Amino acid sequence: MVSTAEAKQRNAIEVSPLPGTLGAEILGCDVRALDDASFPIIRQALEDHLILLFRGQQLSKAEQTVFNERFGVPAKAPRATRGVKERDNQYPCISLISNIKEDGVPIGSLGDGEAFWHTDTSYVEKPPSYSTFLALEVPPHGGDTQFTNMYAALDTLPRDIFERIRDSNLKHDSTYNAGGELHVGAKHTKDVVNCPGTVHPIVRTHPVTGYNTLYLGRRSNAYIDGLPVAESEELLNFLWQHAVRKEFTWTQKWRTGDLLVWDNQCLMHRRDAFDGQHRRLMHKAYCEGTRPFRSPDAFARPPHPRAAKLVQQMLR
Ligand code: SIN
Repeated sequence: MVSTAEAKQRNAIEVSPLPGTLGAEILGCDVRALDDASFPIIRQALEDHLILLFRGQQLSKAEQTVFNERFGVPAKAPRATRGVKERDNQYPCISLISNIKEDGVPIGSLGDGEAFWHTDTSYVEKPPSYSTFLALEVPPHGGDTQFTNMYAALDTLPRDIFERIRDSNLKHDSTYNAGGELHVGAKHTKDVVNCPGTVHPIVRTHPVTGYNTLYLGRRSNAYIDGLPVAESEELLNFLWQHAVRKEFTWTQKWRTGDLLVWDNQCLMHRRDAFDGQHRRLMHKAYCEGTRPFRSPDAFARPPHPRAAKLVQQMLR
């Protein structure tokens, strides 16, 4: 039996899809008050829209940790980048993305530069499934974050390119972060064959929705396993140019208190640079994912519903 208070909250939640091929804003929801009765609405919305925006949220690290746990087992934050202050051990799943320095030491990663297209820590064996990302301080201009729908990217590939990659695997390099900074313990390298990292299928089946998606991770030091390097580069250049076409993307212009939840299994993201005279502070948390796999059954499925209209238009 649902209590009045629960019913009130459940009824207040509204899923408002954003224009284009991804994203929905969730209205009428203070995520600190989310309950078990209303959470399935959010969960379903994430599967349907790939990324959810909640405005006006004020969360401590503890509260973000609780919210993050709704989507899965919290993952330890990824490897730190060199020269960044030690993490808060009390909240090991929260990492700071920031240009702020304390006593001359950056408190977080990525500074004020561009972060190149990537999906979170795809270079590990079990990359994170979902990320939650909270804006605590934002600059007046710049620092926007852009997302691209990788279901749509896969389903609009020219047939010959699709056939070339459908059974291929991709090496995801672990040397650098998305801003091109070295991870702690890593050494500079441009050797795509021998750089450290993990190999995953390029066409990946989403473990929850069951649709196939293009899984590219990041461009730097990527390598299609087993191909001559020149051929791998040529194919990857094509795939990357295609995957970030503006038809597949949506841009988040941050306000303080914005909270995003995104699905790393079917999205990539990047961030614009911003003026370093302004402060930007974001708290990011991850959920543990599963090892990427390719299911033969998924090839027979129609496009993911959020991408279907665009796929039809583009393949016409
Ligand atoms: C990231 O790539 O996780 C950072 C995105 C951002 O700073 O907006």
